[in-house]
Amino acid sequence: MQKIICKDYEAASRKAAEILMAELKKKPDMNLGLPTGSTPIGMYKTLIAEGADLSKVTTFNLDEYYPILKSNDQSYEYFMRRNLFDALPPKEMNIPNGEAADPAKECLRYDAAIEAAGGLDVQVLGIGQNGHIGFNEPGDALSVGTNHVQLTENTIDANSRFFASRDEVPTSALTLGLGGIMKAKKIIMIATGKEKAKAVAEIFSGKITTQNPATVLQLHADVTVIMDEEAAANL
Ligand code: F6R
Repeated sequence: MQKIICKDYEAASRKAAEILMAELKKKPDMNLGLPTGSTPIGMYKTLIAEGADLSKVTTFNLDEYYPILKSNDQSYEYFMRRNLFDALPPKEMNIPNGEAADPAKECLRYDAAIEAAGGLDVQVLGIGQNGHIGFNEPGDALSVGTNHVQLTENTIDANSRFFASRDEVPTSALTLGLGGIMKAKKIIMIATGKEKAKAVAEIFSGKITTQNPATVLQLHADVTVIMDEEAAANL
């Protein structure tokens, strides 16, 4: 796993955008896995400012609340349009469908769509304070394929800052599984802020635990973790 430690959030965002733009140069028609959350916003802003070309790219988002209307301003579909796709439309965007009638079928459809597209070339990730990636939360077992998960109280608390009240935060989500993330050819994780320092230290510990799902990334051959100094504080 490659570590890149940057001074602050802005520098980490710029570094992530530079690495991604270099990958886009190599493969302009790549299949690109993308996260939501606060962390990637700086990278998305830099991609927009630099006029990155996504016109041949097929995107697959990591996750979506369930159930949620696409028009809800807290849906990840809405987030992606507002923060990236309105300015830089990709050739095709895919996001798990929070409006699907049958979540289990939607999970299977999503994995099949990634497979049919030829798999993910690059997966960009954030990381939760508890080590979650996508909405794969710590627990006794981790899921391989796209799955319908109940969110932990910790994640509901963390996400409540985006909603008018905690009661409005959806309690479940559809997320790419650990297998789907690990199948990406290249993984770029961005981790910033002191709240992430413990989870980040564990992903360099040489130990894998279902209590920190991101620790499985240690088994992947091409992972770059871009951190700010605060997130890297316990390394
Ligand atoms: C969102 C996602 C989540 C976030 C994580 C960190 O698509 O995959 O795993 O990356 O919750 O969120 P922020 O960036 O808001 O700290």
